[in-house]
Amino acid sequence: MESVTVARPPEVSAATAVGLPVAGLTAHQALTQPGGIKLDGSGPQANILITAASGGEGLYAVQLAKLGNTHITATCGACNIELVKSLGADEVIDYKTPEGAARRSPSGRKYDVVIQCATGIPWSTFEPNLSANSKVIDITRTLSSLLRVALKKFTFSKKQLVPLFLSPKADNLEYLTKLVKEGKLKTIIDSKYPLAKAEDAWAKISNGHATGKIIVEP
Ligand SMILES: NC(=O)c1ccc[n+]([C@@H]2O[C@H](COP(=O)([O-])OP(=O)(O)OC[C@H]3O[C@@H](n4cnc5c(N)ncnc54)[C@H](OP(=O)(O)O)[C@@H]3O)[C@@H](O)[C@H]2O)c1
Repeated sequence: MESVTVARPPEVSAATAVGLPVAGLTAHQALTQPGGIKLDGSGPQANILITAASGGEGLYAVQLAKLGNTHITATCGACNIELVKSLGADEVIDYKTPEGAARRSPSGRKYDVVIQCATGIPWSTFEPNLSANSKVIDITRTLSSLLRVALKKFTFSKKQLVPLFLSPKADNLEYLTKLVKEGKLKTIIDSKYPLAKAEDAWAKISNGHATGKIIVEP
């Protein structure tokens, strides 16, 4: 769409820019719109949980959340803990351990905002770890997550489950591009494939174990 197109500055490579229009904007929208995080750091302090923080979405979410006044707890596999910390997470838990499966903050914080990038985590796992007016923002858009949202509407809890549907905006894409140009936001690339091997790239994306983005190049 022309209305959401922005120029790519020469300092920003095509491989780096290609993650911004969907994954980058999704993370930006989740944090700022339902999440209410001000990325200039001017808002009140918020405790955030980002699940699957080592994925294409999660790595953008961690870096953007760090620009706000936040304390970030992240979940990922053991091999990505240092990467996720280096990009801004304050505490990282391995999702394959009992502590990680419970999504409990090691420092005992209750989450004000959850950016839910991992599938199949039941509401009952989050519930005890949430602050009174928290929002769990589900970007996974799976059928079961949408059903959970519908069921949740029948409860009177102030803890909300919010599905995210991307509404792309040129201003936000311009903002993300500027952050990349200034070195404040990185696109982490898991691997690159030539166009002739696009099927292999798709298989890699589909197995749910990529660290960051998979790039297909002409
Ligand atoms: N990427 C996009 O542009 C985009 C845009 C909108 C919505 N979405 C949705 O967002 C969700 C995430 O997509 P994605 O592309 O970011 O990532 P993804 O490919 O699903 O994430 C893979 C990474 O997450 C880790 N991981 C897998 N399951 C986990 C769990 N239960 N807890 C913690 N970490 C876990 C994996 O670690 P291990 O290898 O150690 O298992 C791997 O590093 C998907 O449902 C997707 O449909 C994606």
